[in-house]
Amino acid sequence: MQASILAICYLIGSVSFIIGLKMLSHPATARRGNLVSTAGMGVAILGTLFLYQPGGTALHNIPWIVGAMIIGSIIGAVSARKVKMTAMPEMVSMFNGMGGLCAALISVVELGRIAQDHSDMHVLTILAGMVIGSVSFTGSMIAYGKLRGKIKDHAFRGQHLVNLLVLALIIVAGAIIICGDGSVPAVIFFSMLGLSVVYGILFVLPIGGADMPVVISLLNSFTGIATACAGFLYNNQVMLTGGILVGSAGAILTILMCKAMNRSLMNVLIGSFGNTGAASAHSTGEQGAYKEISLSDAAMVMGYAHKVMIVPGYGLAVAQAQHVCHDLGKLLQKNGVEVKYAIHPVAGRMPGHMNVLLAEADVSYDDLLELEPANEQFGSTDVVLILGANDVVNPAAQDDPSSPIYGMPILEVGKAKLVIVNKRSMRPGYAGIENGLFFKPNTSMVFGDAKTVLQELVNLVKEL
Ligand code: TAP
Repeated sequence: MQASILAICYLIGSVSFIIGLKMLSHPATARRGNLVSTAGMGVAILGTLFLYQPGGTALHNIPWIVGAMIIGSIIGAVSARKVKMTAMPEMVSMFNGMGGLCAALISVVELGRIAQDHSDMHVLTILAGMVIGSVSFTGSMIAYGKLRGKIKDHAFRGQHLVNLLVLALIIVAGAIIICGDGSVPAVIFFSMLGLSVVYGILFVLPIGGADMPVVISLLNSFTGIATACAGFLYNNQVMLTGGILVGSAGAILTILMCKAMNRSLMNVLIGSFGNTGAASAHSTGEQGAYKEISLSDAAMVMGYAHKVMIVPGYGLAVAQAQHVCHDLGKLLQKNGVEVKYAIHPVAGRMPGHMNVLLAEADVSYDDLLELEPANEQFGSTDVVLILGANDVVNPAAQDDPSSPIYGMPILEVGKAKLVIVNKRSMRPGYAGIENGLFFKPNTSMVFGDAKTVLQELVNLVKEL
């Protein structure tokens, strides 16, 4: 009876993960989706605590489990409340690393338990969980250090060969255990563990710091797979479903991010996109002169326009100017101007970054346009206001086959009558390349921090 109720709890948990994930795909339902999945996870945890009976006896260490859960929940809730939106990838990386560590520790602990009574399949699952979890843990910690600016990119000659060698040693050690006499020699097992820890470090260390969001998504997928291994080990359906969902969602997200940047995963893992070297190679300054527009003129043209399209980018998030950006949008709308926000899928530094940012400022979802509809509307737009976006509006992606971003879909802002670009300087963005848009005849620059500039524009539009 208890086992059946537990199975139902796990079913509720699994279904809630799927429904929650589906709801996350739209900003209007994302928060509720998160709550649905959290509730399902709660049911699964309670079921495990009170109904799971390994070997026919109830769990005897509930106070320890509950104590650890309370401490973990407090740390998680406080850090999630405090984290700045721009530091979100770091936080995801840290949490993901903890998930990987848990999966690896489960394998280490379970090795002793199954020592007497095991099948090859169980040993394989333990080894896979240990290797993938350890790689995910140390890789995520390095990614976290890079995003915090504490760890620099390190690569040495022949690094990829060394990485391949370490990987080969891990596989050979695993094969020795699987093909052996049925025992799991501790020396080989712990050597595998050590090599996996080292591999996670070597794998992420040479990758450009700016490529970390893609790497984190990939490591997230690894953690999901390691968790699914643990679910298989315990015959725990909800762990299995959760792990598979995280594993596949992470893999899909990695592919989508690479596609939106028009780069292969291999290029991200061994390329140098976003390194300062690329910046100097492409910032030739041969594009000619750029024009500036005064804030009062910018306020005037926007205030008397029929249609204004706002293009947010990473700089808007850095400046935390989303609220004042919405104030400007509302003010223009009140003056009879049609205002829309054009969202590029990889604007910012994490998936959905601009959607989350604008949702925080209560911008209506109806006013947000995705890449394709936005591109259809630029031709009928009077003014495009670019706020801290750079690569996602760079025409080199369409015109310059030698550009590292060639082929990446962009917001075709140049079709509008006037383009106003706000940034602090002529420095390049994430890809480290110059932007020809800034030198086009219908483009004018407004230099300054996005928040200050927008505040001034709000004041000036009010006076019109
Ligand atoms: P970027 O190309 O990185 O450009 C951001 C611009 O914002 C910079 O040129 C910077 O110029 C400006 N800026 C910074 N702080 C500012 C401030 N306080 N006020 C005003 N401007 C400020 O950003 P993007 O156009 O959003 O493109 C995103 C890039 O990140 C793409 O290359 C994309 O491939 C990459 N990427 C995205 C993701 C995801 S999933 N979103 C993941 C990995 C990589 P100044 O320094 O001159 O101010």
